[in-house]
Amino acid sequence: MKACVGWRRFLFCFPLIFILPHLFSVLELHQNQAVTDSPKEHTKKFDVQNSSGDDAPKKITRKFDHLVLGPAAGEGLPNRLQCRGVKALNKTHFSNPSHPSSVGDGIAFVTVFTIYNNSPDALADGKPSNLVTVGNASYSKPERSMAILNVFINFIQVRMPQSNVIILTDPESDFSLHQNRVTVLPIQGEYSRDKLMLQRIRSYITFLDIRLEKLSQEQGRITHFIFSDSDIAVIDDLGQIFEKYQDFLVALTFRNNKDQPLNSGFIAVRGTRDGILRARTFLQKVLEVYSSKYMKASRMLGDQLALFWVIKSDASFDAKRFSKAQAFIKEIGGASVLFLPCATYNWTPPEGAGQFHGMPLDVKVVHFKGSRKRLMLEAWNYFSSSADISDMLCLILKSGRTKYDF
Ligand SMILES: *[C@@H]1O[C@H](CO)[C@@H](O)[C@H](O)[C@H]1NC(C)=O
Ligand SMILES: *[C@@H]1O[C@H](CO)[C@@H](O)[C@H](O)[C@H]1NC(C)=O
Ligand SMILES: *[C@@H]1O[C@H](CO)[C@@H](O)[C@H](O)[C@H]1NC(C)=O
Repeated sequence: MKACVGWRRFLFCFPLIFILPHLFSVLELHQNQAVTDSPKEHTKKFDVQNSSGDDAPKKITRKFDHLVLGPAAGEGLPNRLQCRGVKALNKTHFSNPSHPSSVGDGIAFVTVFTIYNNSPDALADGKPSNLVTVGNASYSKPERSMAILNVFINFIQVRMPQSNVIILTDPESDFSLHQNRVTVLPIQGEYSRDKLMLQRIRSYITFLDIRLEKLSQEQGRITHFIFSDSDIAVIDDLGQIFEKYQDFLVALTFRNNKDQPLNSGFIAVRGTRDGILRARTFLQKVLEVYSSKYMKASRMLGDQLALFWVIKSDASFDAKRFSKAQAFIKEIGGASVLFLPCATYNWTPPEGAGQFHGMPLDVKVVHFKGSRKRLMLEAWNYFSSSADISDMLCLILKSGRTKYDF
């Protein structure tokens, strides 16, 4: 491991590019294993669900294997996307991807992804009952997590074409990706399913160490980092945050949720030496808290609980600030931390369990948590045929309450 520190040497140590699939999707695929019906032919383009009202809780008895639309949340609210069918009535004002605002600095998305080669999932590969269909493509279980990773990359390349994607992965994991601006970086560690969230933080830290070494070798263009889950769709230029909020070193997303206000699926780090050092210290603290306090928490949640613990243990921090969906900066343990509202920077179906009240017109990231993975692929499929990002957002908004089969 030591001998393999540094980009060059790292790649040299692993002359073959080893590939690894994706954290969340893999975990959740596993959890949802029991539900899948075999795909049926659907002649209608979309199904439309009738509903007695936006917030009427519905008993979901099965997970859907095709796109299902319901009512759009936030109807009639100002500053929320309004839709007719899947046509957006508001034309959202996104930045033009070919004219990025951050001309000076680069942005790289960093995600951890691994494939479990010897899992029962892989053995079931190819059985027709395990194939799922989105658009005209069918996927086996292992192919599904790969498809999610590919769509993650596709959205970034279309919406932020100047940015790069770095995939941190288990050297044992065997997958391949050959795309411009995408780097697969094997990092030694313990990537088993139940340790994955812990390993993810370790891999982030190792990555920051590698960056730091690189930074000291070369003076030049700064690259900022956005550490994210790979089940997100980037909708707008995220480079803007580094310009708009000049002072922060680390950025997190928050929502108005008492026990878990912070989501670990989006962590931005300013790519300066100071930013990388502070981010490293911060993540190291999160790792320690995770290991010492939350190892028994669900394998999905320990990192978020640890993240919040580190923030709230700062004496000057007031969690009441999370009740208002407004960005703010706070010094935490010597680092200037920017808190961004999930409603805009980590919007999640079904619109944040209702608390977002629809979709803000300036939404920048959509996070397909839990049983919405199919929706991510359907959304990309729709966007690639319609080329209209606002219409695609209507599709996501109307479908966000549907639970899907993978
Ligand atoms: C949906 O509700 C409308 C109005 O109540 C009704 O006319 C229509 O038949 C319903 N559609 C379905 C698919 O249940
Ligand atoms: C969004 O569109 C709706 C319907 O056309 C309109 O009433 C509303 O004012 C628009 N909102 C904004 C902020 O432009
Ligand atoms: C899926 O359909 C689209 C257009 O309908 C076509 O361009 C594409 O090549 C098809 N993909 C596959 C894998 O058949």
